[in-house]
Amino acid sequence: MSKTRTFYQCQTCGHASPKWLGKCPDCGNWNSFVEEKSFGGKQSLSVQSPGKTEPVPLHSIEGISEERTPTGIKEFDRVLGGGVVRGSVILVGGDPGIGKSTLLLQTFLRLSDRSGKLLYVSGEESPQQIKMRADRLPASTGDIILLPETSLEGILDAAKKLSPEAMVIDSIQTVYTQELLSAPGSVGQVRECAAKLMMFAKRSGIPVFIVGHVTKEGTIAGPRVLEHIVDTVLYFEGDRGHSYRILRTIKNRFGSTNEIGIFEMSDAGLREVANPSELFLSERPRNVSGSTVVASLEGTRPLMVEIQALVTQTNFGMPRRTSIGVDFNRVNLLLAILEKRAGMHLGGMDVFVNVVGGLKIVEPAVDLGIITTIASSFREVPVDPGIFVFGEIGLSGEIRAVAQAEARLREGAKIGFKKAVIPAGNAEKLEGAEGLEIIKVKSIEECIEAVLR
Ligand code: TYD
Ligand code: MG
Repeated sequence: MSKTRTFYQCQTCGHASPKWLGKCPDCGNWNSFVEEKSFGGKQSLSVQSPGKTEPVPLHSIEGISEERTPTGIKEFDRVLGGGVVRGSVILVGGDPGIGKSTLLLQTFLRLSDRSGKLLYVSGEESPQQIKMRADRLPASTGDIILLPETSLEGILDAAKKLSPEAMVIDSIQTVYTQELLSAPGSVGQVRECAAKLMMFAKRSGIPVFIVGHVTKEGTIAGPRVLEHIVDTVLYFEGDRGHSYRILRTIKNRFGSTNEIGIFEMSDAGLREVANPSELFLSERPRNVSGSTVVASLEGTRPLMVEIQALVTQTNFGMPRRTSIGVDFNRVNLLLAILEKRAGMHLGGMDVFVNVVGGLKIVEPAVDLGIITTIASSFREVPVDPGIFVFGEIGLSGEIRAVAQAEARLREGAKIGFKKAVIPAGNAEKLEGAEGLEIIKVKSIEECIEAVLR
């Protein structure tokens, strides 16, 4: 019988130490060490016994075509890269109450119409609660088996017996393996359980969806430990105050990352939003200063979003700058460019920038939108409501070309815009203008002139 040993483990990155530490030497987090127990000093049990594998030349490996099963929910399939791959492990993370359980239950209801048995393991809700939720969702005729179980060994036994076509673990933080003594939800347990589920999925070919809660720091408990174990990491995001939800790919071994799926939470579950641009622009004010529409790109998907700005006289010596949805440093940089290259005196002004709908945009093509919005609010001149913009801005005030101009223009034309202000570099190579009037700009002065009437 091996001896039980106590050690301390960082709950953020999994760094282990024989002593308690205030600050993790690995990830630098404070106060993240928790006491854990293990047998005979073993920390991870899911390691293969050594010396059993042979090296093989790459060209001698027979290609297996990835078998993908579409879930039937288009927005979900899009982020998965076309469907669920056999034997893959998919982590769905997000804040509590955002709709992870709803999303997966609804996916299973849809999937069950076309497939055999599906297993839904819940350590958080009783079968009655799940039934109540399922009653609100679109009905199905298929076979979903519920299992209220938290012991991993029990779950795997049941899964082997049933051999379902797919399974959900809701959530990984409630599952524990008997081989570790630490509490469910600790890094050791989460990592061990995920590793075992991964092995199970690879051996059996059953795809496993794992629900992971996000901690208050904004990451899935033991995020780094989980993210590199699983095949696909999806984040379900959204604002409590808004009804729409975004499913985002963070990592995908079987498809492209940076894809998003957009849903709307209704009283009958999640509804797919096939045309998100219309949703985000539906409440746009007309003829009010400080509002511009930009054609942004999320993965391969063009998305028209409204950027608003409010420029007001500052009351204190220090002007305030706030940005929601776009990078704060980027806004500061653009303000400096406006000041220096367009002669706008913003030094005594508070500037607030907001992306409508709670979206977060990281690509530089929104620069032109931010600049024109701020200029519009500063001069109190509304932007022509038939115009949209995109383009990156360099430090000397020059407008730079961005990727996928055609896709952005097509989306704008589809929504009903008449004019587009785009970088001259993009306009030269343009193949089709989609019936839009194209205004090409080279500098921010030209851009502001073109947009503000
Ligand atoms: P849930 O799926 O339980 O969230 P998670 O598993 O991420 O914690 O999300 C439930 C929330 O969504 C809850 O606040 C109620 C709401 N909801 C609806 O608005 N409509 C519905 O049809 C359902 C099932 C839930
Ligand atoms: Mg849940």
